[in-house]
Amino acid sequence: MTGASASLDRPHDYAAPASAPAPHITALRLTHFRSHAALTLNCVGGAMVLTGANGIGKTNVLEALSMLAPGRGLRSAAFDDMRFERRLDWTVSADIQTAQGAVRAGIGWQNGARKLRIDGANGKLDDIAHILPQLWLTPAMDRLFVDGASGRRKFLDRFAQSLDATLSKALSGYEKAMRERNRLLHEGNMSAAANGWLDGLEEAMALHGVAIAAARLTALDALAVGLAAIPEAAFPRAEIALAGSLEAGLRQQSALEVEDAFRARLAAARGLDGAAGRTLEGPHRSDLQVVYAAKNMPAADCSTGEQKALLVGLILAQAHSVAAQRGDVPILLLDEVAAHLDRHRRGALAEILHALGGQSWITGTDKEAFDGFDTVFGTAFATVHMPDDIKPTAPSRHDINAEQASLGSKS
Ligand SMILES: Nc1ncnc2c1ncn2[C@@H]1O[C@H](COP(=O)(O)OP(=O)(O)OP(=O)(O)O)[C@@H](O)[C@H]1O
Ligand SMILES: [Mg+2]
Repeated sequence: MTGASASLDRPHDYAAPASAPAPHITALRLTHFRSHAALTLNCVGGAMVLTGANGIGKTNVLEALSMLAPGRGLRSAAFDDMRFERRLDWTVSADIQTAQGAVRAGIGWQNGARKLRIDGANGKLDDIAHILPQLWLTPAMDRLFVDGASGRRKFLDRFAQSLDATLSKALSGYEKAMRERNRLLHEGNMSAAANGWLDGLEEAMALHGVAIAAARLTALDALAVGLAAIPEAAFPRAEIALAGSLEAGLRQQSALEVEDAFRARLAAARGLDGAAGRTLEGPHRSDLQVVYAAKNMPAADCSTGEQKALLVGLILAQAHSVAAQRGDVPILLLDEVAAHLDRHRRGALAEILHALGGQSWITGTDKEAFDGFDTVFGTAFATVHMPDDIKPTAPSRHDINAEQASLGSKS
């Protein structure tokens, strides 16, 4: 046994869901993405470990990968801010190996708009999400249990979206109708026309709201199955529940009944909501409640390390559930995950990720945190130590033009 492999415990019997060969990125190219003027990485299908000093650009690579998922990425940042030195438009392009063959996906920010190409044709982010599901865990999420409900809602919704792509439409439809309703109520216009308009908006909110609640309940149940599959000896088991009026309603009544009742409550609450300046009830107020099961302790009251371990357990459970339900293992972006885990849990993490069989992108300042990963992953393991291994060269005009031209000028 080598010194490196001896440093990981490998006691866990985790049974991953059977799945097709996991989709993964074989090559990643960035131009003008934040601190990376140009970066090309050839990738293995297992663990891609990025190491290097603070500020060297590790999280920037994960953020670039998250551009291949719907939404604003793992920092929820503005696309303009991702431009190299905030002045040059960026591109992220990836060669993706799937069970059905190779796909080239490219996304770019050009003149204030997002452009997406899949195999040379215009595409949608939902199409990439379908080919390459993604989940992530970042240090910003360390406060998930302590901060307000909105972070936990987003956390569950991201997972729910990877099971049900139609959820994003329901979420944006609900938000849009709610904003418009809030605006009308704020203006206090009680004309017949305004009332008719409110009726329509509340109908949209009820329709989308019930779709959102239903997708969340499905996700919650799937997550519970995933949580039960992750060995408790590796990561503490979380018990999860969803607090929300529509979600609770759907456990008892038909979707139609819940929809009608919510629409009626919205109509009755116009005065109250108008006075409050916001909509007081609805799926935008729901909360994901998490308890450390063995201790029967709300996650918010757990120690920092316990909270981190609960989070990692939740992400692994999500990955398990996505793999079980869709047959595709998601790629995982795990920013700064190893540093917070003790040796035992790092070993468990490597074992479970390897058994899942998908591609994981893991960052850490120190190589040592990943000692023993090579033994677990074998050839499906690569470390990229920055800056030595990335040779930051200025991109030639030719490369940039080629990447941007391949995105086309229209989407
Ligand atoms: N638009 C941009 N253009 C150029 N550089 C940027 C831009 N946005 C951020 N940076 C730089 O990127 C660096 C941060 O990179 P990143 O967050 O990826 O570091 P990291 O390697 O993850 O560090 P840590 O270990 O501290 O998490 C900072 O030095 C920041 O100044
Ligand atoms: Mg970082």
